[in-house]
Amino acid sequence: MSDSTAGNPLRTNLVNRAIPDPCVLVIFGATGDLTRRKLIPALYNLAADGNLPPSLAVVCFARRDKNHQGFRDELGEAARKHSRRPINDELWNQFASNIFYHQSNFQDAAGYESLSLELDALDQRLGTKGNRLYYLASSPTEFDVILENLRKSGLSQAKPEAWSRLIVEKPFGTDLPSARRLNDAAAAAFPEKETFRIDHYLGKETAQNLMVLRFANTVFEALWNHRYVESVQITASEPLGIGTRSGYYEKSGALRDMVQNHLLQLLCLTAMEPPTDLSADAVRDEKVKVLRALRPLTGQNVGTNVIRAQYQDGFIDGHEVPGYREETGVAPESMTETYVALRLHVDNWRWAGVPFFVRVGKRLPKSGTEIAIQFRGTPPVLFNRQSQLKDPNTLVIRIQPDEGISFRMAAKMPGALLQIEPVKMDFHYGTSFGKATPEAYERLLLDAMSGDATLFARRDEVEQAWQFVDGIRAAWEDGEAENLDFYPAGSWGPAEADQLLAEDEAVWRRL
Ligand code: BG6
Repeated sequence: MSDSTAGNPLRTNLVNRAIPDPCVLVIFGATGDLTRRKLIPALYNLAADGNLPPSLAVVCFARRDKNHQGFRDELGEAARKHSRRPINDELWNQFASNIFYHQSNFQDAAGYESLSLELDALDQRLGTKGNRLYYLASSPTEFDVILENLRKSGLSQAKPEAWSRLIVEKPFGTDLPSARRLNDAAAAAFPEKETFRIDHYLGKETAQNLMVLRFANTVFEALWNHRYVESVQITASEPLGIGTRSGYYEKSGALRDMVQNHLLQLLCLTAMEPPTDLSADAVRDEKVKVLRALRPLTGQNVGTNVIRAQYQDGFIDGHEVPGYREETGVAPESMTETYVALRLHVDNWRWAGVPFFVRVGKRLPKSGTEIAIQFRGTPPVLFNRQSQLKDPNTLVIRIQPDEGISFRMAAKMPGALLQIEPVKMDFHYGTSFGKATPEAYERLLLDAMSGDATLFARRDEVEQAWQFVDGIRAAWEDGEAENLDFYPAGSWGPAEADQLLAEDEAVWRRL
């Protein structure tokens, strides 16, 4: 066990189960950005930490014509840019010697036959024992054909005494019908327990620690309900615009890109009941119950509970940036939202009446993802008699950056006067554990190699989340809800989002 796991009960438990098996990881669409920026750096860091199985081969399946060494060099260059730790040449060369390039079209059955032979040969040469992990990192439009070919070629079939698993990158569908179709295609080739749907927010260290915070401490869980909690705010804010992703983003928008997956997952971890154990299904059973308890937003309700907006030109870090409609590849009258704010309700015993305010946006002033639990104020006696104390207790879980947890409470300022001010107790991962937190993909790849699906979305979770989000989209498309609002780049979103909270006498937190 690596020392980073000490003192973290959830992780300790998972590590006990998570011993990765030797295997071959096959990445479909390996010439894309994800492989360079995330997957290979994550694997390298796992190698550097000694966490990879003793035998691991990575086969990169893609259309372009390349050779093994040329591609290794390209990946090496990318790893130097994107790895969280500096690249050690000797270690890199050793790691990269087990990366192979397999050129084929995704449609070409012969490409899968030759892949099959290549994988068998790698088993012989490297001792990867017939275990296969297929990673769909191509464009989502190719997922179906790859799955079909994996099934037809027999590659998806586990060999005796071995396993065959599937990882699917997001976006997992674009609405409920497409997610169902993709789930059916995956189910035709792989059993559900071998299907790993990525939501990289679940791999973030602090997201995992939400369960530890809640269920390994006595104090918080006792207060974690409508009797003590006034409201919950979940924010994911990014200064970045859409960069080169207009083709994808124009069709997606913030609701599908971030809310359907990452934000709803964070909400589930915040609102779920304690699972009976830490097994993948016990945890996911509880999360899906939260999604089922979400009060549906449809028709007129969307207009009163959801704000959608788009960034206009403005300033980020003192630099002028264009508006969304001026970005390359974006339609001049695009109605795609780059910001959404929602008021949600989880209609169950624990959360009845507590609003969950969720917001996500691009071109906001600061990068930050956090969950803030705002507790109720004290009764109107003693210090609270004259006027309501401002700044009631708030517990903030910082998912990123500066991962940590802080708790705001009231304290008396030193001196003869009775003056009460808010103060903070603050815990930072960096200083408390003295080491950098691993990247989400490190944890997720390791878990998939170990067959632990706890941090991956299950079929019913994904479909339930789409059902919820589709209701909102349908209202937007029918024009039943208010139109698109606008905000200058570098601001905290449109005034309408402030108004949404004002209706509940709340204000958005400043990150
Ligand atoms: C991705 C979205 O899933 O998450 C992007 O497609 C977004 O639009 C990204 O920028 C945010 O991830 P992170 O880890 O940087 O918060």
